Amino acid sequence: MKSTVSLLATGFLAASLVSAGPAVERAAATLSDCLNSKSVPTRWINSPDYADLAEPFNTRLPYKPVVIVLPETNQNVQDAVVCAAQFGVKVQAKSGGHSYASFSSGGQDGSMMIDLQPMQNIKLDKSTNIVKVGGGVRLGNLAQGIWDQGQRGLSHGTCPGVGIGGHFTHGGYGHTSRNWGLALDHIVGAEVVLANGTLVNATASQYPTIFWAVRGAADSFGIVTNFYLQTHEAPKAITYFSFQWGTALYGSKTKFVNTFLHVQDFATNASVVDSRISFGIYLDGVGAYSLSGTFFGTVNEFNTKIKPEFLRTLPTPGTVIVKSYDWIGYLTLLSDKDTIKEPLTGYDEHDNFFAKSITVPERDGLSKNALGAFYDYIKKGTSASYFVIINLYGGPGSQINNKDTSFAAYNDRDSLWVLQNYGETAASIDFINGLNDVIIGAQPYTQFGAYLNYVDPSYDAATAHELYYGAELYAELASLKKQVDPKMVFWNPQAIGA
Ligand SMILES: Cc1cc2nc3c(=O)[nH]c(=O)nc-3n(C[C@H](O)[C@H](O)[C@H](O)COP(=O)(O)OP(=O)(O)OC[C@H]3O[C@@H](n4cnc5c(N)ncnc54)[C@H](O)[C@@H]3O)c2cc1C
Ligand SMILES: *[C@@H]1O[C@H](CO)[C@@H](O)[C@H](O)[C@H]1NC(C)=O
Ligand SMILES: *[C@@H]1O[C@H](CO)[C@@H](O)[C@H](O)[C@H]1NC(C)=O
Ligand SMILES: *[C@@H]1O[C@H](CO)[C@@H](O)[C@H](O)[C@H]1NC(C)=O
Repeated sequence: MKSTVSLLATGFLAASLVSAGPAVERAAATLSDCLNSKSVPTRWINSPDYADLAEPFNTRLPYKPVVIVLPETNQNVQDAVVCAAQFGVKVQAKSGGHSYASFSSGGQDGSMMIDLQPMQNIKLDKSTNIVKVGGGVRLGNLAQGIWDQGQRGLSHGTCPGVGIGGHFTHGGYGHTSRNWGLALDHIVGAEVVLANGTLVNATASQYPTIFWAVRGAADSFGIVTNFYLQTHEAPKAITYFSFQWGTALYGSKTKFVNTFLHVQDFATNASVVDSRISFGIYLDGVGAYSLSGTFFGTVNEFNTKIKPEFLRTLPTPGTVIVKSYDWIGYLTLLSDKDTIKEPLTGYDEHDNFFAKSITVPERDGLSKNALGAFYDYIKKGTSASYFVIINLYGGPGSQINNKDTSFAAYNDRDSLWVLQNYGETAASIDFINGLNDVIIGAQPYTQFGAYLNYVDPSYDAATAHELYYGAELYAELASLKKQVDPKMVFWNPQAIGA
């Protein structure tokens, strides 16, 4: 086996105890002894701030970690992972805590949560425009930080409280993604603590397989303590547009279906659509139906070249907004808040919800049948509060779909649309499941999938693996998991190998 010196020379910072043998293992009688002997900062169930730290974004699934680690250093993370492995405790990182399934709380009671909240560094290298970002940074602070340091931008979701750790390693879609790619596509390096406690700086040339796996399945392969992200020059101005129909499309199945079918034709029409445009449809149970998005171009170009084809044949929207914003103004608008800055500690926003997703292959799109079934289903109504978001991923010029699984361990590169069906509280579960079922059932010839960042805890592991990764990619990940984490230290109910 390699000596510590040679491991260091090849870029490893070896965790001292991994190879130290049984004498060291005997030294710690309990998990807490082990963590204390290495001065790892911890919170236990009787700590005064345990409840606040443990509370996930989705309060419907409030798991109780056996211990919460608050690492100040990479070494703290390495030590924590080694102790957990020694005592057979499962580990999950927490970044922003926005997992739909509360997987950052373990996805079960009794796991170790490594809460990266203390790791909030953001440092832009002005010569390479690569930013080094701590694993606990929330998206709003990331966006503000790279803007302040160099007027740079990245592609990611709109909610400023979401964390980099889950979002960037499991996709990451926003209305800049058709132009710049998914959040994940910007990762050029990752400092990762592996299951044996080793820290590696994984890049396309160093530990390329680990680098590949964390981009799609980080929850199963390690803890990313720092990300290296290639940024873009933020546009000086960007065009936001929104067409709002309110209830106007709900009165007629024909209008509802034909509106979507035209939007789908528009989305795949190369004479009007290129990478610079992204958009999504939002609808809910209380009468909203809107289509909004982003254009990397001027208001004038949008209004003269794009809008006419967009709205051709459609009922006239009650409200039309087409407006230019500066970069931070645009991000703030989408955030639906006064500022995209989030607190570094004590973040306290939550929801109680159940959500599902459907990825729709570009080859098939959504059929008239599926849209009709969708309409009939939502017309039946529910007392539960819900919304649906249908985002465009594919179409001409998409920078999401121009990659494949050789680039990263992320499968969803051929979707035209990604649907999210989101309901409030457990009372919405049957309705949301039913909505998914009618859409999928109306198009039996299509192989639909699901989106990793909208992780759905109601699937058993095998179904989740098939929907998120597909059989081929999953098999590759499962075999890698056996090599680098044979004891399944990094675990949640849908982890690779679970
Ligand atoms: C209000 C809201 C808005 C959203 N908006 C969007 C959107 O616009 N676009 C979109 O694509 N998605 C969106 N999402 C989904 C979001 O991308 C996912 O929930 C994402 O995984 C959350 O990341 P997190 O770090 O906050 O979550 P966490 O709960 O902290 O982590 C999620 C998973 O990733 C793992 N993980 C976290 N950090 C690390 C790390 N450093 N190393 C290894 N594994 C790690 C965790 O262990 C867990 O399994 C939204 C979610 C919510 C709740
Ligand atoms: C890790 O990799 C990134 C991306 O290539 C690089 O910028 C960074 O300097 C590396 N860090 C270390 C500590 O080697
Ligand atoms: C694509 O857009 C052009 C320009 O508006 C239009 O003439 C054409 O009919 C559209 N094609 C389809 C298939 O809708
Ligand atoms: C830790 O695991 C990695 C990945 O399997 C491996 O490359 C490395 O040699 C291991 N380190 C030690 C110290 O065993």
